[in-house]
Parts: sequence; structure tokens; C-alpha cells
Amino acid sequence: MHAAYVFDAYGTLFDVHAAVRKHADAVGPDNAALSDVWRTKQLEFTWTRTMMGRYIDFWDITKQALDYAFAKFPSAPPSAKVALLDAYWELDCFPEVPAVLKALKDAGVKTGILSNGSSGMLNAAVKSAGIEDVIDHVISVDRIEKFKALPEVYQMVIDDLRIYPDAVSFQSSNRWDVAAACAFGFRPVWCNRGNQPDEYKDLSPELVLADLNGLIGSDGKPV
Ligand code: LAC
Repeated sequence: MHAAYVFDAYGTLFDVHAAVRKHADAVGPDNAALSDVWRTKQLEFTWTRTMMGRYIDFWDITKQALDYAFAKFPSAPPSAKVALLDAYWELDCFPEVPAVLKALKDAGVKTGILSNGSSGMLNAAVKSAGIEDVIDHVISVDRIEKFKALPEVYQMVIDDLRIYPDAVSFQSSNRWDVAAACAFGFRPVWCNRGNQPDEYKDLSPELVLADLNGLIGSDGKPV
């Protein structure tokens, strides 16, 4: 058990593909591939813009990535964009998330989100998932205007929670985010929802889970 459990948001707590799934018929036959390209470009833009020192917030990044994805798949009618963007503000959380967060709070540990998402997007998603009572800290990169995987991003957790890195269990479904958390000194957990192959072998998670249920032991206490 650790003093704090901090979570990545998109892909870890919230299902980024829920938006396209919800509007699959309107997007058309390439909906799943379009959703993948949308997500891939969204992440690429965070990395390249951080390296360039040309920050724009995650909402603008998400819109630009969606424009690219629609340009790539002409079968998708541009009229479907608005609904996809609206859905992003109320993404579904994965089914186990509320109960896992509640078990963590019942055990008396601190909980938080550390995300590339803008504060507005994160607060809306937390509210729409109904998890505002079980999340203590919502930390957005907005404050430093730089995206993951820079160490300064992970440092915000230390500044806000006032604990040492090795007291923080950091959960992400993004293997590169797990690697960065490991490099920073957190106790990294990879929530490998998509059963992806391992990478960054010199920066490994301490625990690999299929979903977040594995954070809670059979005695109901955090592992
Ligand atoms: C986030 C992205 C990486 O929430 O999923 O920070």
C-alpha cells in the first residue's frame, strides 16, 4: 500500500474511444481506424509541441488531431465532428473505476489525476463520471504549459501532494507514460487494457494489470 495513488486520465480512467463508439454510425465504416488515428495524432502533437516549445492546450490539440483524422478518412462526413468533440467532455470511465477509487479512499490514501488534459476537460470528465468525491487532486499540465513525458510534469504531483516520489503509485495505460513515471521515481503500474506488447524495457512497471481492479487485494485493501 502506498501513500498516494495517482492516475493518468485518458485511456486509463476514461475511455478515449467511447466518443467514436457512441457515434459510430454517423462516422461510418472507418470509425475504429479513425478513432485510432485521432488518438495517435493527439499524442504526437503533445510530444512535438513540447519539444518545439509551442504549447497549445489539449483541447486545441484534440481538435487539430480530429481534423487530421477526418482528412485521412474521406468516408467520414465532417458533419460528425461536432458530436465527437462534444462527447469528449463526457467520456465514459471504465466500469471498475468508481469502485476502485472508493476502495482507495476507504483505505485512507490520497488519490489524484495527472493528465495532459486541460483543467476544463478534466473537471468535466470527472464530474460526468461521478468520481469527484473520490479524487482528491486533479492536476493538469495547463499550469506549466508542457506535456508529458517531461519530468516537470510528474514533479507537479510532488509539489501538490508534498510527498516523496517513491510514495506514489502511478497508474497509466500508456506504456510511455509508465516509463516516464518510472524514470521520475514513482512506483509505476501499467494498466495494459489493450494487451499490448512491452516496450521501454529499462523503465519497467512494478505491476502490470489487465484493468484497475488489480489495485485492490482480496482483503479489500490497496496493494
Ligand atoms: C493523459 C494522456 C496521456 O491523460 O492520456 O495525460
